[in-house]
Amino acid sequence: MTSNADFQAAFDATIGADEKIEPRDWMPDGYRNTLIRQIAQHAHSEIIGMQPEANWITRAPTLQRKAILIAKVQDEAGHGLYLYSAAETLGVSRDELQDLLHRGKQKYSSIFNYPTLSWADIGAIGWLVDGAAIVNQIMLQGTSYGPYARAMVRICKEESFHARQGYSILMRLAEGTEEQRAMLQDAVNRWWWPSLMMFGPHDSESTHTEQSMEWRIKRISNDDLRQMFVDQTVPQAHYLGVEIPDPDLHFDEDSGHWRFGDIDWDEFWATVKGNGRMNRERIAHKRKAWEDGAWVREAAQAYADKHAGRTSSMSEEAA
Ligand code: 3HC
Repeated sequence: MTSNADFQAAFDATIGADEKIEPRDWMPDGYRNTLIRQIAQHAHSEIIGMQPEANWITRAPTLQRKAILIAKVQDEAGHGLYLYSAAETLGVSRDELQDLLHRGKQKYSSIFNYPTLSWADIGAIGWLVDGAAIVNQIMLQGTSYGPYARAMVRICKEESFHARQGYSILMRLAEGTEEQRAMLQDAVNRWWWPSLMMFGPHDSESTHTEQSMEWRIKRISNDDLRQMFVDQTVPQAHYLGVEIPDPDLHFDEDSGHWRFGDIDWDEFWATVKGNGRMNRERIAHKRKAWEDGAWVREAAQAYADKHAGRTSSMSEEAA
């Protein structure tokens, strides 16, 4: 009879060998619960993240931009589905996760609680928000839980399109009129710091980083990922001809990094705790969409049950 100690030793050996833990493998409850928390939050972020962008589908400046934005928003829905599917392999249902989100018992990324006030915001989201998400998600391709790592491979491919279409929106504005350049700068001013907040609190303040790194759920820490994002993004801002809204931003020759100022952690935690600019609207909209879609889920379930009934009677006849 295999003891818990044997199971733990096998788990530790798999993690230590940098191999993947799969759904049927034994895993410590803490590992399972951390993954359910993080993957659910990731999935919720993808779905809630559709709202700020969808706000501009009917107001896109050209048919081509409208088509691109529709494709991007649809991609985010697909990312949510991959991630909910990965979470379900851990023994939790999609309905449970929706209920936890609607009751404020699970989170989504702080970044989606900011309003999209102009078309330039759609470009800034693609460039900065999807850009930050890519830095994080490339790291997560190496996460120790198999289904999560594999979901990231497909998501990262689509995210790079998202970031590029965002940057191309901003390039057009940068080459435009004075008003368009002012709109561009205004969007960067509003989205820069919330994008840095996406990576979470400083490592010293992080509840989960140490254990998540030990379990190889996280492969790079919050602060190191944030620094990678800043280092890659500042030169892009210079090419765009926009100011980064940080008077302390400077290049540190010794380290080769762009050093930046202090994040407003009061704003971050207020937003995480539900008191951000748009938290209430986002959750109310999400709840309404869930309720309005109940008939679709019921119809699909009725069809599936009927179809299952038919296939089981067919297999009885065939037997
Ligand atoms: N927004 C909301 N909550 C956040 C947060 C953020 N930006 N950053 C951290 N938190 C929460 C954590 O959930 C945790 O709270 P909890 O214990 O109640 O869950 C607390 O703050 C402490 O933070 P930790 O750093 O200890 O938490 P993690 O180890 O989970 O690290 C993370 C935070 C780096 C965001 C990690 O959860 C992660 O990598 N998640 C997966 C990626 C993800 O969710 N990205 C969100 C954006 S997805 C996206 O942008 C889609 C794209 O298509 C646009």
